[in-house]
Amino acid sequence: MSGAEGSSSARRSAELVRVPEHVAIIMDGNGRWAQARGMARPAGHRAGTENLRNVLEAAGEFGIPILTLYAFSTENWSRPEAEVRALLALAQRVIDRELNELHSRGVRIRHIGRREGVGDALLQRIERAEELTRDNSALTVNIAFNYGGRADIVDAVRALVREGMSPEDIDEAAISARLSTAGLPDPDLVIRTAGEMRLSNFLIWQAAYAEYYSTATFWPDFGREELYKALLAFQERKRRFGGLPSGA
Ligand code: IPE
Ligand code: IPE
Ligand code: MG
Repeated sequence: MSGAEGSSSARRSAELVRVPEHVAIIMDGNGRWAQARGMARPAGHRAGTENLRNVLEAAGEFGIPILTLYAFSTENWSRPEAEVRALLALAQRVIDRELNELHSRGVRIRHIGRREGVGDALLQRIERAEELTRDNSALTVNIAFNYGGRADIVDAVRALVREGMSPEDIDEAAISARLSTAGLPDPDLVIRTAGEMRLSNFLIWQAAYAEYYSTATFWPDFGREELYKALLAFQERKRRFGGLPSGA
């Protein structure tokens, strides 16, 4: 390969001039992925977890510092019991299988969402993963499991009341500081796979000014190239935060 050309991945990466600091992904479409192949839904969830590796690697390659992944919502408990059980078991298996390698690559793992109801076996693994990786800084990965944006806000309000904060002292910063994402910047980009155009209760406070990107690709097929396309789309967006376009 000639030096002027470089590798194709280096050439593509060079086009990324504005990488979001925090990318959040709604990993949707596992069921439809399986259905399209005549397989049962859990097979789609399994394929979805296998895809995590690709996306985490690509996020590192593109220099995304913070990634938040929506894995299981507070509303997903309403699915058939067998599917819920399969999802919980799969989450445990992913931690067992991937934790050491993620740790050795400097990935910090955090859980966001309610811990109640998750079950001891999974909770222990989540806590171990958080503890083991707490000093890592190459990439922070927040796993939103048993996460709901409304529950997040309810829990923040409960914390404020418990602390006895007076109404005049409650402002946006006070609420942000009590959400599960406290200390992290708000997501700049929310990606949703499988075509739906909704947030489904994901980071509803934090994503107030996030750019939104939806792709028809099902989560198990959302790989490096797809992430790259989303990042390219992001850097074309003009963010205004309620103000006027720069130069106007
Ligand atoms: C996303 O895939 C995984 C979870 C919500 C847990 P789905 O299971 O929602 O897949 P579809 O949307 O039915 O295709
Ligand atoms: C959102 O997907 C939740 C996760 C990806 C974990 P859903 O499949 O649950 O969302 P809806 O029901 O289509 O809104
Ligand atoms: Mg879905």
